[in-house]
Amino acid sequence: MKISVIGVGYLGAVHAAGMAELGHDVVGLDVDARRVRQLEAGRAPFHEPGFDETLRRGLDLGRLRFTTEYEDIAGADVHFLGLGTPQRADGFGADLASLHAAVDALAAVLPARDGSPTLVVGKSTVPAGTARGLAERLERIEGVRLLWNPEFLREGFAVGDTLEPDRVVYGVRDPEAADAEIRMLDTVYAPILDGGTPRLVMGYEAAELVKVSANAFLATKISFINAISELCEATGADVTDVSRALGMDDRIGSRFLRAGVGFGGGCLPKDIRAFIASAEDLGVGQSLGFLREVDAINQRRRVRVVELAREMLGPLRGRRITVLGAAFKPDSDDVRDSPALEVASRLMAAGAHVTVTDPEALKNARGHVEGLVTVEDTAEALRGAELVLLLTEWRRYRDLDPSVAAELVAAPRIIDGRAVLDPRTWRAAGWELRALGRPD
Ligand code: UGA
Repeated sequence: MKISVIGVGYLGAVHAAGMAELGHDVVGLDVDARRVRQLEAGRAPFHEPGFDETLRRGLDLGRLRFTTEYEDIAGADVHFLGLGTPQRADGFGADLASLHAAVDALAAVLPARDGSPTLVVGKSTVPAGTARGLAERLERIEGVRLLWNPEFLREGFAVGDTLEPDRVVYGVRDPEAADAEIRMLDTVYAPILDGGTPRLVMGYEAAELVKVSANAFLATKISFINAISELCEATGADVTDVSRALGMDDRIGSRFLRAGVGFGGGCLPKDIRAFIASAEDLGVGQSLGFLREVDAINQRRRVRVVELAREMLGPLRGRRITVLGAAFKPDSDDVRDSPALEVASRLMAAGAHVTVTDPEALKNARGHVEGLVTVEDTAEALRGAELVLLLTEWRRYRDLDPSVAAELVAAPRIIDGRAVLDPRTWRAAGWELRALGRPD
């Protein structure tokens, strides 16, 4: 099928390459000409395992192109909307400006069609009610149908999540009268659906809510264990013991139950705030009041790491601190709302000399924090440190040899902000180790 993907940021670029991988003829569109040139040259604009190969295969097979011009996509059968919906400048609520601009630009070039419909498929994370509003505009054009098909991919697993999702959700105006558009999207996703992936059809609002509630649930689960982590610190319990035992209850499950410095990234933090704002707009703010607490617990963990640093070093001014990790999670170069970088900034504000290292995210980190000192090589970053903070659990940091590391630093002190190091081994190698949620 002829497919366009409008907005080739993280989600859109991976989706476009994924659709080419399924055998479709795909054009990715973005208003950012630099990004379009980069993708067209086969260069991934972000670090994502497996994406480079998928992108290049699509380009080599001639199934994938990129453009900045809406005229180039006018004839496609299916248009995916992959626009970002960032946090609004006022801090609450989603900014839908680029989504609306894209829909206006698309509507201006869509030809009226009879016979098989033109399908517009929204993938962006939006407040409930958005799809219905967009459908009012788009479906005025003869033969155009809007379907809402939220995306659940995780950074670091984006290609696999696109080609083998847990489920696909179709939001339609009226589930009883949407056969044509459902069939059409089924054709697009045929290789995925034939593999047995469940497909659920529901109303627009339910589909929009599935997405934001999934992220809110995941954020809640992380903040839940981080709240328990605070209890562990107050009682001397070890949060990794509590988490392991809790996770063995099938009803709870062990995933997203890892305590530490908390969640960051371009999705979870902003999505819970937008969800709270959306509930307030709908007059049911009380229903999601608990998400404010989820957000607050998450912020507190970042502050706690700085407190721990003070407990270990005393006044921070002039002290040499090395932060292991800048990305919001391993296997990513994304630093949006990264807990590691926020902690680094707070330490810098307190006058510490902070050095940050990360295998992939340093370029982005420098763009985010002014005056940040970054070092590529782990050993070099550790040299001379009076305190080390492990804040993003890249494998290379989890696998550090404490005896080798002890030779490099000025004083063997470490804060394990992700509860991933074995305290006994590190202490036996002479380290003073403090960990969030674990006994000293
Ligand atoms: C998240 C969701 O997991 C995806 O399903 C969703 O599609 C995506 O947002 C989105 O809306 O686009 P992502 O932001 O890539 O994906 O990252 P996650 O893997 O969810 O991790 C988020 C944060 O939680 C990271 O900072 C991670 O370190 C932290 N985390 C995760 C924990 O602190 N503990 C855990 O147990 C798990």
